Amino acid sequence: MRDWENIYKTEGIVQKEPEGIVRDAIPILKQNGVKRVLDLGCGTGRHSLLLAKEGFEVYCIDKSPKALEILKGRAKDAGVEFELREGDMGTLPYEDKSFDAVVSTHVIQHGTIADITRVAAEVDRVLKPGGVLVIKSVSSKTELPPDMEMLEERTAKGGPMGEEDVPHHYFVPMEFKGLFDGYEVLRLEEVKESSERFGCDRWYVQLIFKKPGRM
Ligand SMILES: C[S@@+](CC[C@H](N)C(=O)[O-])C[C@H]1O[C@@H](n2cnc3c(N)ncnc32)[C@H](O)[C@@H]1O
Repeated sequence: MRDWENIYKTEGIVQKEPEGIVRDAIPILKQNGVKRVLDLGCGTGRHSLLLAKEGFEVYCIDKSPKALEILKGRAKDAGVEFELREGDMGTLPYEDKSFDAVVSTHVIQHGTIADITRVAAEVDRVLKPGGVLVIKSVSSKTELPPDMEMLEERTAKGGPMGEEDVPHHYFVPMEFKGLFDGYEVLRLEEVKESSERFGCDRWYVQLIFKKPGRM
């Protein structure tokens, strides 16, 4: 199967620098008293490492064993510790209200609308009331390569290099308000970035939301 496990096996660490939205979220996490953070779809851990260095208690989950193997080595080299788990974002192996924050960049788009709805419910289940959610994911403003097979509205398979077998959903910002109904919107925007990997400009939706209630 052509997916991220393969990419990590052949290319190693592909996403190196932390995303701006995650850096920007750090003071907000601190102001909100966040301690336990889930890095959902952590990959090789650019954000897990950053957050651990910032003093958060970090839990990492990804379905790619190779990514977790690389991240284990990186954590050792950096002298930081976190819990690493292999698992699927659609069935999170954590208790209800386990985390003060969930951070997930370039992950939640992997699936159909039904898959993504299930993931959002799982994220909501494991996030404490008053918890903070940080997401970045590809936007529908991104031009799709012509050879992609459309599966449903704004969901296609066959495009991104190395991930040809994985459905990708292209978000509009309002969709996240529906997926996380009742959450306070601290930030919700679309940004255009030039991608070295794709060799073109791509649009992303990024957000910082706060779950109703108090921690
Ligand atoms: C584009 S990478 C992003 C990695 C990391 N979040 C980052 O920004 O550096 C996507 C990651 O999502 C993971 N992933 C995809 N589908 C997943 C699923 N159903 N459950 C858990 N992880 C998944 C992949 O293994 C991969 O590590």
